[in-house]
Amino acid sequence: MHIVVTGGAGYIGSVVSAQLVEAGHEVTVVDDLSTGHADAVPAGARLVETSIFDIAGVFAERPADAVIHLAAKSLVGESVARPELYWHNNVVGTLALLDAMAAHGVGRIVFSSSAATYGAVDDKPIPETAPARPASPYGATKLAVDLALADYAQRYGFAAVSLRYFNVAGALVSESQTFGERHATETHLIPNALSAAAGVGDKLTLFGTDYPTPDGTCVRDYLHVVDLGIAHLRALDVAPGHHVINLGSARGYSVRDVLAAVEDVTGSPVPVVESARRAGDPPVLIAAVDRALEVLNWRPELDLHAMVRDAWVASGRS
Ligand code: UFG
Repeated sequence: MHIVVTGGAGYIGSVVSAQLVEAGHEVTVVDDLSTGHADAVPAGARLVETSIFDIAGVFAERPADAVIHLAAKSLVGESVARPELYWHNNVVGTLALLDAMAAHGVGRIVFSSSAATYGAVDDKPIPETAPARPASPYGATKLAVDLALADYAQRYGFAAVSLRYFNVAGALVSESQTFGERHATETHLIPNALSAAAGVGDKLTLFGTDYPTPDGTCVRDYLHVVDLGIAHLRALDVAPGHHVINLGSARGYSVRDVLAAVEDVTGSPVPVVESARRAGDPPVLIAAVDRALEVLNWRPELDLHAMVRDAWVASGRS
């Protein structure tokens, strides 16, 4: 199949693109390189440096069988400070993409939605049927696209999948190429903890030690980016209609559990500064994963240790 991967020069997009190439697909990466890196596009994939607002030209030039749509702005804090950037890029941009797909007869899309669509939910684990009350503009824009996809699937016969990622971590490490997290602004726990363990930059700021959790720190459901990518490939085969599917492991780890795994992998202590809670962080987010198994025949295989190890290798500091 010819698959167009928007955001394919980013962290998750580079991994998904590499897996698609490996599986024998023809891959066109569409990325404006605003946060992605041209050298993260895997060998064998073609890069078209353009925005999703202008994607019609890509479909006109070469018909596509499906789109994996990962291009988005994705910093929760920035979305609170500058919501207009998020509504414009993530929602208006995606509508431009969907209209171009409909105009060019591209009827299949896999979308990177997020656990941020749920907000603080009492259900543990969280099923896809939980009420969606996003706590940030970022989560609201992901939810808005999920709702649009349901309508486009109904009206235009799309096969559309909203994959609601929980906490993605790790890297694709192979003999030829390595694809990991290289965000200019790094907010995620595991890369920050690895940097702190390596003595690069600041100590790790631990946001909140007074949560109602076993050790007082937030609990999250971490997912290896390689497992995540495999779910995208499986999602290319779903029946027409709109499917909302959580991607996680149904297992939770606290921030302190993650720091222990980082110390284990690196052999170095993680210097920590305990600080107040970060605004908008729910105490516990764990995915219910039955639907992923049922619809995609997918379950994660790689554990927290593998995520930290592969992120460490990809950081080049191991
Ligand atoms: N944390 C720290 N210090 C840091 C970074 C994170 O203590 O330097 C803590 C956070 O407070 C949180 C946990 O580590 O308790 C995980 O934080 P991340 O930033 O790694 O991940 P989030 O759970 O905040 O974010 C993830 C996705 C987002 C998505 C969000 C939904 O990365 O895209 O879940 O809530 F929006």
